[in-house]
Amino acid sequence: MLTLVLMLSFVMSSLEVNQIEDRKNFLYTQANIISNQMITEFENLSLPNTREYYYNIVSDFSKEINSRVMVFDRHGSVLIDAYKEYTEQDSISNKEIDQAFKGEPASSIYDSPSFGRIMYVAVPVESDGAIVGAILLTSSLEDIYTSQDTLLRNLFLLALVCIGFTGATSFIFVEILSSPIEKLTETVNRVAFGKHDERIRLEGSDEIKVLSNSFNSMMVRLDQVDNQRKQFVANVSHELRTPLTSIKILSSSLITDESTDPGIYKEFLKDIDMEVDRLNGIINSLLYLVDLEKKELELNYTNSTLNSLIPKVIQMLVPLANQKNIKVDFQADEKVWATFDREKIHQCLSNLIANAIKYNEPGGHVIVRLINRRNTFAIRVIDDGIGIKEEELPFIFDRFYRADKARNRKTGGTGLGLSIVQQIIQLHQGDIRVESTINQGTSIEIEIPKGLA
Ligand SMILES: Nc1ncnc2c1ncn2[C@@H]1O[C@H](COP(=O)(O)OP(=O)(O)OP(=O)(O)O)[C@@H](O)[C@H]1O
Ligand SMILES: [Mg+2]
Repeated sequence: MLTLVLMLSFVMSSLEVNQIEDRKNFLYTQANIISNQMITEFENLSLPNTREYYYNIVSDFSKEINSRVMVFDRHGSVLIDAYKEYTEQDSISNKEIDQAFKGEPASSIYDSPSFGRIMYVAVPVESDGAIVGAILLTSSLEDIYTSQDTLLRNLFLLALVCIGFTGATSFIFVEILSSPIEKLTETVNRVAFGKHDERIRLEGSDEIKVLSNSFNSMMVRLDQVDNQRKQFVANVSHELRTPLTSIKILSSSLITDESTDPGIYKEFLKDIDMEVDRLNGIINSLLYLVDLEKKELELNYTNSTLNSLIPKVIQMLVPLANQKNIKVDFQADEKVWATFDREKIHQCLSNLIANAIKYNEPGGHVIVRLINRRNTFAIRVIDDGIGIKEEELPFIFDRFYRADKARNRKTGGTGLGLSIVQQIIQLHQGDIRVESTINQGTSIEIEIPKGLA
């Protein structure tokens, strides 16, 4: 509306200025034409015959251009009045005529109560450089203002129609657009009140559909996260309860049975000690995982060689390997330098190699191979142990997941080792790949970019 009003007032005012300017120029031209026609006989206009002759011409001309024409002699007395209101020798004084006698054409607009707006235009009549008279044209401007008023009324009506139409279409569009958004808001509110299984199906514009799809994917993800959280809490509680139950049973039986002989006493205490170690192990691993998942965790990058790190890890695990008479070999074709967090990669390799030993038969064989690639290095831990069932492979990186539950009870462990490995590799922006065949062995390869830092 504001734009329309501004535009209308601008158009109307410039139209008015233009039309009035046009009328003024038209009247000047007409006055000059009359002046030119009479110039030769001007001195004779006082003669009744000549005057009569010119009166007729001026009177016709006046009708033709729809303006009153008056001719004055050099003293300001009326010679001819097309409307015949003034007769010869009447003299009128007005600003425009005075100006014309000074040699300057002049024009003004007057507002008359009976005739409306009127334009006065006066020009001098010059002969041989002397001013011999003046011509005054008066013309009503009401036609201009009437046509302007009509135009304004029509434009105003058009503006009203436009505003009505815009209003109606906006209203419809707002309705169409806001109804899916209202639906979305309702769904979001239901989700906020705990109804996590809410999904939206929205028809409408593409943007709205994309928004509803994003909302649905967000809800699926939220569900997954929520389920993982529940699963995790359940797993932690379960894992912590197992050793605690054992401790409780062992300690209770020690308390109630008074005649226990010192040998059994000691054995029970050893078992309790082992279970406490296990609890400790779980809690330490959990805390380590929590540490790794901290968003602001910065890796402690150093540039060093893997050819010295790997044998150190193997050395640490020799006692474990010896228990089962397992041979662990290190193979490397060349010296590999890279930038990585030494402590974390140490932890990661130690978990992988410990698994290869633990899930192996006595007399088995483990190979740790260092492979140099163009931008990355890889370490492959290969064993000829018990292997992992194909259907269990996707889960081995899950927290607390332990394949082959029956056998695993003997080997001990928390099921957190590979989660830690995965977390460390992700922090190094690397990859981890597993291949395994049940009863034949497993090969796990980690690959890490060399120059990350
Ligand atoms: N080299 C391997 N051969 C066969 N099975 C393996 C091997 N590595 C891992 N697994 C299986 O994957 C499971 C998960 O391994 P992970 O290292 O996460 O836990 P864990 O060894 O049971 O406990 P932790 O490492 O915390 O002491 C293991 O319980 C085992 O069943
Ligand atoms: Mg392990």
